[in-house]
Amino acid sequence: MSLLQIKDLRVEFQTGDGAVNAVNGVSFNVEKGETLAIVGESGSGKSQTAFAAMGLLARNGKAIGQALYEGKDLLTMSRKELNRIRSNEVAMIFQDPMTSLNPYMRISDQMAEVLQLHKGMSKKDAVNEAAKMLDAVRIPDAKARITMYPHEFSGGMRQRIMIAMALLCQPKLLIADEPTTALDVTVQAQIMELFGDIRKEFGTAVILITHDLGVVAGFCDRTLVLYGGQVMEEAETEALFARPSHPYTRGLLRAVPRFDRKDEALLAIAGEPPDMSRLPEGCPFAPRCAEVRDICQTAKPVIAGEAHRRACHVPTEELSHV
Ligand SMILES: Nc1ncnc2c1ncn2[C@@H]1O[C@H](COP(=O)(O)OP(=O)(O)OP(=O)(O)O)[C@@H](O)[C@H]1O
Ligand SMILES: [Mg+2]
Repeated sequence: MSLLQIKDLRVEFQTGDGAVNAVNGVSFNVEKGETLAIVGESGSGKSQTAFAAMGLLARNGKAIGQALYEGKDLLTMSRKELNRIRSNEVAMIFQDPMTSLNPYMRISDQMAEVLQLHKGMSKKDAVNEAAKMLDAVRIPDAKARITMYPHEFSGGMRQRIMIAMALLCQPKLLIADEPTTALDVTVQAQIMELFGDIRKEFGTAVILITHDLGVVAGFCDRTLVLYGGQVMEEAETEALFARPSHPYTRGLLRAVPRFDRKDEALLAIAGEPPDMSRLPEGCPFAPRCAEVRDICQTAKPVIAGEAHRRACHVPTEELSHV
């Protein structure tokens, strides 16, 4: 059984201007110990997909479909059961660690609190365990620095601390929403490496949400590309980079700097992401797609394929833009 199975997930928000269809029939699986990247431009529904599964939608939002964690539907289970899973099994980290760390508490106290509360540890054991975890996320001199306050660490270090906190209860799944966006490129790469190590050391599955396809290469087993709240393409990351078969993925890749193709110009995809309250009738990407056909304007492409899935009316071999 997959660790997490998202099945035909839809998220709709009610607003003064009508309904916003943020997620429109998204399906994917996460296996035990696997690293899955969810990529797509701003507004493509990445965060709301994760929030819906974790019961974190804003009040005006409603989730339909299924989000099966070890076979049990997160969308319909009791609050109590969901809270148990959220504190012991699935951890989530966000872009800005300062929003989740208490600036007035020493790191040791914040981390120990988690273990005292959830594992019933003594304060002393909890601080020791927390220091070990800081060590595991490569905070130098963890034992001494654990008594410092959040502002005494750099942004990259704070993100490591967040990851350490998320790992304290040994979750089976870690969902990281843009965890490296606020960091510079070198630190980004170090954090990405850390996710890889975590997987090896703790066997934790990771869902990494990012708008930057560039950061996932080499770190994530599989990549899911979202656009207009729909899955456009999904494949093993290497295959996706080597043989992208959706015009949107190809567009995203052309915008990523690559060491192996130094002299190619970087091209942004022309046009704007869709208005999620007025999605086109056909393929959401049709208005920006260089490969567009008549059918794309009127019929939504159905996702097809096994290991490499794509939702596009145009067969891969007929795509002209590489
Ligand atoms: N409470 C809300 N009410 C109405 N619309 C919302 C609400 N929350 C999110 N949305 C809309 O849902 C859509 C998807 O948002 P989501 O946060 O999933 O985007 P994202 O892919 O995570 O983008 P980003 O890269 O900017 O974080 C957006 O169009 C957003 O405006
Ligand atoms: Mg987001």
